[in-house]
Amino acid sequence: MKKKLFLIWREEKKLCVREEDAMPRRPILAANWKMNLTSNQSKLLVDSILNNLGAPVNCEIILFPSFLHIPMIAEKIAGKNIGIGGQNLYFEEKGAYTGEIAAFQLVDSGCTHVLIGHSERRHYFHENYETVNKKVLRALSAGLKVMLCVGESLEERENNVTEMVVVDQIESAMQNISHKDMNDISIAYEPIWAIGTGRIATPDDAAHVHQIIRKALGRIFDKEIASKICILYGGSVKPDNIKEVMAEEDIDGVLVGGASLKTDSLLELMRFLN
Ligand code: 13P
Repeated sequence: MKKKLFLIWREEKKLCVREEDAMPRRPILAANWKMNLTSNQSKLLVDSILNNLGAPVNCEIILFPSFLHIPMIAEKIAGKNIGIGGQNLYFEEKGAYTGEIAAFQLVDSGCTHVLIGHSERRHYFHENYETVNKKVLRALSAGLKVMLCVGESLEERENNVTEMVVVDQIESAMQNISHKDMNDISIAYEPIWAIGTGRIATPDDAAHVHQIIRKALGRIFDKEIASKICILYGGSVKPDNIKEVMAEEDIDGVLVGGASLKTDSLLELMRFLN
């Protein structure tokens, strides 16, 4: 669906403002580096962000590097208004869970955020509705902000069950989440078939799913929460399509994989939103 009239895409400030309630949703650029980059490559990327952009003003930038690089990056970005998060965590508080990472350890390493329920985790590591919900609850109780990922597979899209799948993912992840908790949650809609494939959902299609998500949150919580929450799009976002994606009313930011690994494209995406 195209932009509604009450939305102003303010070119100068890049804020999505709904005139009816004047509630701005600050755009977010989240970079998911997945299982890529050496420590030195991560450092160079962060240096180039800091040298070229300094601290972001008009958008929120959140980096999701390898766990191993978090302390080094957290130190570099301290005081620069840039968020940093883990790409996952384990839902138990602590204990004998060899190889897992606890929420408190992310906080202790300097994390502000965590990604939960990425489709790669759901697919390769069999995360299900219950474990995703437990992870969300654990992250919030440790003081982390959660970016919850949802999205349908190609088969689900072709079978016209996108809405059902995405709403199920949202409803199950939101079990026992309070209205107050919602201040610390954003949603990333990532159609699985658009991740790393170069295929991008048309902005209309993506916007339609974003509206479904917002509507579901309105039903689960209330209208105010639905209108305040940031819903990001992810899946083959690049400098040459970000403008089109961000022009949609219900798309409040982007979660970027491949294009966030190279300095030029990362900076271009950041400059666009900032
Ligand atoms: P790509 O931008 O490489 O398609 O990855 C998207 C993604 O999975 C971000 O979490």
